[in-house]
Amino acid sequence: MQETFRLRKFEMQDLQKVMFINRACLPENYTDYFFLDLYRRFPESFIVAEQNGEIAGYIMCRIELGFSNFGFSGLIKKGHIVSIAVLPEFRRKGIAKALINRAMEGMKLYKAKQCFLEVRVSNVPAVNLYKSLGFQITKTIHGYYADGEDAYVMSKKL
Ligand code: ACO
Ligand code: ZN
Repeated sequence: MQETFRLRKFEMQDLQKVMFINRACLPENYTDYFFLDLYRRFPESFIVAEQNGEIAGYIMCRIELGFSNFGFSGLIKKGHIVSIAVLPEFRRKGIAKALINRAMEGMKLYKAKQCFLEVRVSNVPAVNLYKSLGFQITKTIHGYYADGEDAYVMSKKL
């Protein structure tokens, strides 16, 4: 029987499947050390979605210090969405939206005041997803990606 998805924190044994989803969905790939380092440092904002016991998508984040985009002065903690992906067969069911909402709750536990990410300017599904959650485009970084494409930085108050 088809059940709905559920969210849970990433666990060590999810590494290979999460790395597979990353490679299947995005050209930006990372070493196993990179995934495990984010898990070790920020486990509350490394979340997977499971459906029928199978991992359908993930989100992983890092907490960084940076300047506010929304009027505070000085340095604040920001939650950086480093990577999010959902396997094609599980898309348009609200999984990415739920992953981001859950990761933002995790970021608040680390006292982050804002959330941000970079996204390819041509990535219409992702830009729409972030806009639907209230993210605003706060910057364009020219030539951000390895192939020369520009990135939007999109930010949201937590
Ligand atoms: N076209 C237009 N709008 C879209 C699309 C699309 N293909 N997909 C999602 N959206 C928008 C819609 O507003 C949607 O709401 P609706 O379905 O009610 O219209 C809203 O986003 C929420 O969609 P979800 O179902 O939560 O998104 P999904 O689970 O399908 O995952 C994602 C979206 C992660 C962008 C998926 O398409 C994916 O994995 N793409 C490849 C990897 C990728 O681009 N990741 C983001 C890179 S940037 C970064 O990682 C920081
Ligand atoms: Zn980034």
